Amino acid sequence: MLKVENLNAGYGSVNILWDVSMELNDGEVVAVLGSNGAGKTTMVRAITGMIRPTSGSIVFNGEELCKKPSRYILDAGIVQVPEGRQLFTEMTVLENLQMGAFSKETKEHFQENLEKCYKWFPKLEERAKQAAGTLSGGEQQMVAVARALIGMPKLLILDEPSLGLAPNIVDDILNVAKTLAKESNISVLLVEQDITKALAAADRGYVIENGHVALSGTADELAANEHVKKAYLGI
Ligand SMILES: Nc1ncnc2c1ncn2[C@@H]1O[C@H](COP(=O)(O)OP(=O)(O)OP(=O)(O)O)[C@@H](O)[C@H]1O
Ligand SMILES: [Mg+2]
Repeated sequence: MLKVENLNAGYGSVNILWDVSMELNDGEVVAVLGSNGAGKTTMVRAITGMIRPTSGSIVFNGEELCKKPSRYILDAGIVQVPEGRQLFTEMTVLENLQMGAFSKETKEHFQENLEKCYKWFPKLEERAKQAAGTLSGGEQQMVAVARALIGMPKLLILDEPSLGLAPNIVDDILNVAKTLAKESNISVLLVEQDITKALAAADRGYVIENGHVALSGTADELAANEHVKKAYLGI
């Protein structure tokens, strides 16, 4: 469903991503692993059109999306939960979720998708009228994920959902992502620094180092890889 080939991107004259290639199939959870500054978020920004790649190709369900504007990419079904959540903190939970319905189609399906989100994250229904900024970190991440789901993604990109959260909340969020992939055939690109949890949730993964794809393989292969063990798992 997504095929990224030889993607080069960066900021101004500084290139960050070097010939990055990766693939995602329908219903697959694919982890993107790498240390701070490796280029993971830059890759997410390039795929979602927030920065303009200098070269390469991003084909999504047969359509070339490289260099298309971000709104176009969103309408094509690529929805991200950005690093740091980026909620509207003064607005209520419900208002934040309403912001996820950007297109005619997602507006029409808002109520049914809202109910699904409340099933995934019952806490959000209890907190619907509360200002998002007053929620706990874990609850805020749930709002961010739910807001993305209201956008009816075909490809959901999660950029470090575990940041600053307790392990059980991370498990909840990764379980939702995994179940969505398997039951609703949504593909999930999971950027994560918690490598153990990411590989437990993912089917396959890519390791990014200095803007290059250093390694790729099934989650089991990566978890067993000596370099991954030494460099990322400390074993
Ligand atoms: N807006 C920007 N302008 C200039 N350079 C940037 C910008 N955003 C990121 N960079 C640089 O690009 C490189 C890759 O950053 P990126 O945010 O993609 O890393 P990351 O893998 O997501 O790291 P982290 O795990 O810390 O989120 C870094 O050297 C960073 O300083
Ligand atoms: Mg990042």
